[in-house]
Amino acid sequence: MTHPRRRPVLLAAVPVAVAALLAAADPALAAGPTGTRGVGDPYFPLAGNGGYHVGHYDLTLRYDPARKHLDGKAVLTARATRRLTRFDLDLHGLKVTGVTVDHAKAAFRRDGQELVVTPRHALRKGRAFRVAVTYAGTPQPVTDPDGSLDGWIPTDDGAFVAGEPQGAMTWFPANNHPTDKSSYDFTLTVPEGRTAVANGVLLSRRTAHGKTTFRWRQTEPMAAYLATATVGKFRVEQYTTRTGVKVYNAVDPREATAAAPVLKKLPSVLDWESGLFGRYPFRAAGAIVDRAPQVGYALETQTRPVYDSAPDLSTLVHETAHQWFGDSVSLTTWKDIWLNEGFASYAEWLYAEQHGGKTAQQTFDALYARPAADGLWAFPAGNPGSGANIFDTPVYARGAMTLHALRTAVGDRAFLRILRAWADAHRDGHGTTAQFEHFAERLSGKDLDGLFRTWLHTAGKPDRP
Ligand code: TRP
Ligand code: ZN
Repeated sequence: MTHPRRRPVLLAAVPVAVAALLAAADPALAAGPTGTRGVGDPYFPLAGNGGYHVGHYDLTLRYDPARKHLDGKAVLTARATRRLTRFDLDLHGLKVTGVTVDHAKAAFRRDGQELVVTPRHALRKGRAFRVAVTYAGTPQPVTDPDGSLDGWIPTDDGAFVAGEPQGAMTWFPANNHPTDKSSYDFTLTVPEGRTAVANGVLLSRRTAHGKTTFRWRQTEPMAAYLATATVGKFRVEQYTTRTGVKVYNAVDPREATAAAPVLKKLPSVLDWESGLFGRYPFRAAGAIVDRAPQVGYALETQTRPVYDSAPDLSTLVHETAHQWFGDSVSLTTWKDIWLNEGFASYAEWLYAEQHGGKTAQQTFDALYARPAADGLWAFPAGNPGSGANIFDTPVYARGAMTLHALRTAVGDRAFLRILRAWADAHRDGHGTTAQFEHFAERLSGKDLDGLFRTWLHTAGKPDRP
C-alpha cells in the first residue's frame, strides 16, 4: 500500500539517484525521451520510426553491378516531433561507416533493421536537424511475410529496385513507413553503358573516367517504398506530353519489342485517367521495363513504375492509376492496402469498359460467380489480417468489387465525383479506410454503412448487392 505512494515522492525528491537506478536497470530509460522503433503499424511493427519526420532525402549512390557493391551516402533533413536523445532509422544489411547529426559525429549501433543513432546533444522538440549516414556493401533484398522479395534485387545487368512494403531499407537508411513522405534527390553513379533510373525529373547525366552519373529529383512528397534507383542496360526515350508532363522511359532491349506498343499508349492512359481522377499529381512520368524474372511483380514507383518484364496494357493502366491512389494519396497503415490495390484494379475494369472490353458489371459478375470456398472470399478487403496477405486476391478483386458496389449504390456521377474529390482532397497526403467511408457518405448523401461493413469488414461471401 505504501509502495505506490512512495515512488513518486522518491522520484521528485532525488531525481538524480532515481535516474542512476533506472540507468542500471535500462540504459534506454535513463537516456530520457527517445524516438521509437516503429510507427506502430500492426502488420510491420518495426517499419518507420517515431519521433521525427523526414522532409528530404539526398542520396548519393555508386553501384558496381559486377561486384554487386553499393557505396552510399544518405543525407536526411528531418524535424523532431518530440525531444530526442536518440532516434532510429531503418536499414537492413550493409555496413555503416559513419553517422553525423548536424555535422557532429554521432554514436550509432545496429539492432536488426534498426540503426540506432545517439546525437552528441539532445534534439529539442520541433527542431530541424540533418543526419548523414555513410554506408557500403552488397544489398540484401528482404523476404516479405508472403515470401516475395523486395528491395535492391540484383539482375544480370544491374538491379531491379522496388521497396513495397519493406525494401527501401535495403539500399538507404529511411523512415520506412508510408506515414512519412519526403522529397528526394538522387545522384547515381554506374559504369558507363549502364543507366540508373530514379523517380521524378532527370537533372543531368555526365560521363567521365568510364562512369556515368545521373542526377534525379523527386519534388512532390514520396513514401520511401516508392523510391527506385533501378540499374541496367536500357534504351531510353524522353518526351514531354501536351500537358507538360516529362516522360522518361527506360527499357531493357530484350523487352523492347513487347513493350513498345504498350508504352506508346502511356500518354493516352495518362489523359484518360486524368479525365476520370483529376489532374495527374506529378510533373514527371514514365516506365522502367526491366528483365527480372525472379521478381514476379511490377511496382508503382512514384512517377515511374518499374516492371519486371514488358507489361500488358492492363498492368500499365493499373500502375498508372496508383499514381493517384497509393502514391499521391498514401496509406496510413498497411491494413488499408485495398485503398491502393482495389482502386488500381477498378481502374483496369473501367478502362476495359470504356475501350470496347467487358463492362465493369460483367467483370463483377464473373468474380461474384466464384463459389464461397474460393480464395477471393478468404477475408474482407479492409482486413487482410496480416502482412502476409496484403497482396492477395481479396485486396485486389474484392477491393475493386467494393468500389463497384459503391458505384451501383450511388450512381455513376456521384461515384466518379467521389473518386476525383478523394484524390484531390488527399493529394500529396494520406487517407484511411474510415475517412474514405465518411467521404463517400458525405458526397453521395447516402448511408453506406451496410455496404462498407459487408464488403470491407465482414468475413465470407457477401450477399449480392
Ligand atoms: N503493388 C504492386 C502492384 O500491384 C504489387 C506488389 C508490390 C507486390 N510488392 C509486392 C505483389 C510483393 C506481391 C508481392 O502494382
Ligand atoms: Zn497495384
